[in-house]
Amino acid sequence: MRTLTLPLRSARLELRDFTRADLDGIVAYSCDPRVTRYLFFGPRDAQSTAEYLDALLESQVERPRTRFELAVQELGSGCLIGACDLSMIERGVYDLGYMLGSAHWGQGYATEIAHTLAAAAFRELRADRVISTVDVNNSASIRVLEKAGMRWEAVFRKHRRAKNRWWDCHLYTLPREVWESEQAQAAGR
Ligand SMILES: CC(C)(COP(=O)(O)OP(=O)(O)OC[C@H]1O[C@@H](n2cnc3c(N)ncnc32)[C@H](O)[C@@H]1OP(=O)(O)O)[C@@H](O)C(=O)NCCC(=O)NCCS
Repeated sequence: MRTLTLPLRSARLELRDFTRADLDGIVAYSCDPRVTRYLFFGPRDAQSTAEYLDALLESQVERPRTRFELAVQELGSGCLIGACDLSMIERGVYDLGYMLGSAHWGQGYATEIAHTLAAAAFRELRADRVISTVDVNNSASIRVLEKAGMRWEAVFRKHRRAKNRWWDCHLYTLPREVWESEQAQAAGR
């Protein structure tokens, strides 16, 4: 089975595997309720972050590796600013996601991450389709998915129950053919 060659790089970011040394940096963004408002978990404290990091480090050595939960590091500053993930949910189908510390919102970083993860999924993992689900009220993330070329496909009412409520979520998708034709158009510009 194919795997990703890490780290992934974009113009301003490096997407790399987490290490134990990232613990404090992960706590710094995931303890913030604004950051986890539309995520099924959190906010996380130091203890729950440590447990999460243990599970994440174990997932790095699974073979075949189907889950790539990656640290987002700013190339300029070398700082850990968030996390993103690309996970195989069924053969040929990868789910992407991202979260950033609030000090780093509004600079186009999440869009850069979504483009980078989608390209890696199609080029390196030979995905047929990339998908993402997003809470119907998470307008910033919906905008990111649209800017990354993903298309609205469905709404899942009561998609999941978490944090004492039901979550209605949009499904966004990007089929390989659409991504390839967008790449060809961009190359011809
Ligand atoms: C969602 C998130 C990743 C966006 O990161 P970001 O780096 O700020 O995103 P970008 O800068 O690439 O793009 C954000 C877009 O959303 C828009 N936006 C921001 N807040 C918005 C709001 N409340 N309503 C509508 N659009 C909004 C921005 O204007 C921008 O669009 P534009 O370029 O057309 O102006 C970030 O807010 C975050 O980490 N949130 C918490 C975690 C989360 O919700 N993750 C997604 C789970 S599906």
